Amino acid sequence: MEIVFASRHESNPLEWVRALRQALPEHSVRLWDDDSSPQGRADAAVVWAPPAELFAREPRLTHLFNLGAGVDALLQMPGLSDDITLVRMEDGGMAVQMAEYVLHYLVRESRDLGRYAGLQAQACWQPLDDIDRGAWTVGVMGGGVMGARVAQACAALDYPVAVWSRSGRPVAGAQAFGQDGLADFLARTRVLVNVLPLTADTRGILSRAVFEQLRPDAYLINIARGDHLVEADLLACLDSGRLRGAALDVFSREPLPPDHPFWSDLRIQVTPHVAGASLMGLTVQQIAGKVRAVVRGEPITGVVDRARQY
Ligand code: NAP
Ligand code: GLV
Repeated sequence: MEIVFASRHESNPLEWVRALRQALPEHSVRLWDDDSSPQGRADAAVVWAPPAELFAREPRLTHLFNLGAGVDALLQMPGLSDDITLVRMEDGGMAVQMAEYVLHYLVRESRDLGRYAGLQAQACWQPLDDIDRGAWTVGVMGGGVMGARVAQACAALDYPVAVWSRSGRPVAGAQAFGQDGLADFLARTRVLVNVLPLTADTRGILSRAVFEQLRPDAYLINIARGDHLVEADLLACLDSGRLRGAALDVFSREPLPPDHPFWSDLRIQVTPHVAGASLMGLTVQQIAGKVRAVVRGEPITGVVDRARQY
């Protein structure tokens, strides 16, 4: 196979190319070059936010290996033919990071660690109430690779956990709800964690209608995509006291503009889309395994279902 590495996101593209060449010595791997790369020879591309000209310049592509789990941006790219097999990253070291991220904010809220930071600033020695763990019900939207790992991590610390997914498939340590069970899932949830893919069905799902069904004093953690969230609804629900706060890793506009109100809102914790990064070693190993399987004519996992959009 001839493979082109085309990512406008990685700061070290040559390192990725070197690692792919090492993992796939029997194949040809080259870096996308904006000015002079040969045209029309690549069979596969390894991408994250690839250049818009990719499909016009490489019309022979049969496989697109995405460096991330979410394929919402790729699916919007003009020129992406239905004939190209789109393969997403399955974990690649991200799931454990997503679990760490959620645990950080869950523990910060449930153990009052943010309030203790405020008390320290006043040199005030004041133990707060003991944790009532049963009151910190976690609800994870999305029970896939990321959601299952997040749910299991929270359950391992004895938080009561539920997972909502299309199929309602079981996740160890959590109560599973299928698509029809959304109202029951929300009614038991205090800490709402979003790890859904962004699709036509899930865009704008984090809205006032959902927030109002949560348990009182609820907290939101969004680590999926910014367009899942209706930002004005979040601010309104924070103002009304319906929500106590939110941790947001992803935004409709990234980078988040400097004048965006989220930056200075003390009820909101902002991180710059870093909840889970695909790690080079694991990612390259996974892609190499799939490239070899494709060449042998074997089926691979992680192929995106274009109708479902994930
Ligand atoms: P995945 O394995 O494909 O899992 C997706 C889950 O969402 C599945 O459980 C699926 O249900 C469920 N789902 C999809 N549409 C639904 C709907 N309309 N209603 C209810 N449930 C629905 O994906 P993943 O690897 O866990 O990744 C999830 C997302 O996390 C990615 O798409 C990406 O946007 C985001 N992400 C963000 C970061 C970051 O750094 N912030 C890092 C990695 C990933 P079924 O199980 O029934 O199919
Ligand atoms: C990151 O956001 C991903 O989708 O992998």
